[in-house]
Amino acid sequence: MKLACRVNGAKVEAEVTPRMLLSDFIRHELRLTGTNVGCEMGVCGACTVIVDGESIRSCLMFAVQANGSEVQTVEGLSTGTKLNKMQQSFHENHALQCGFCTPGILMTLEALAAKGALPATEWEVREALSGNICRCTGYQNIVDAVLTVKP
Ligand code: FES
Ligand code: FES
Repeated sequence: MKLACRVNGAKVEAEVTPRMLLSDFIRHELRLTGTNVGCEMGVCGACTVIVDGESIRSCLMFAVQANGSEVQTVEGLSTGTKLNKMQQSFHENHALQCGFCTPGILMTLEALAAKGALPATEWEVREALSGNICRCTGYQNIVDAVLTVKP
């Protein structure tokens, strides 16, 4: 099937099989491997990207469902080598270890930031990120990183 969308602001046109997952399209066809795949069943949040302003699990969406949409991946957050504020805060607060979960967490937060809805308290951060599993950090430094950026 034909697929036309925008990914990180760039026009993308491709032909995909109807069953191709959006996560596989992003990783294997576009080679944007910042989007990680952990569980492939909508549980871990590692594959989170933004489609038309909403954070979604790209392992639960077919690529063709993104036809006509604006897709944002973690590669779109920085400007060249300049990290955005949240990425920089994660760096400065040591909010990642292996980093596998980090792109998904950043995209969940980016969707909230774009709506002016970044969480402002520890428990709001934990609630906002309850769909993103991190197996390394114990979450405290992630919470600290988000609260450092809050308006
Ligand atoms: S890989 Fe999509 S939620 Fe885990
Ligand atoms: S930093 Fe390793 S899974 Fe989160």
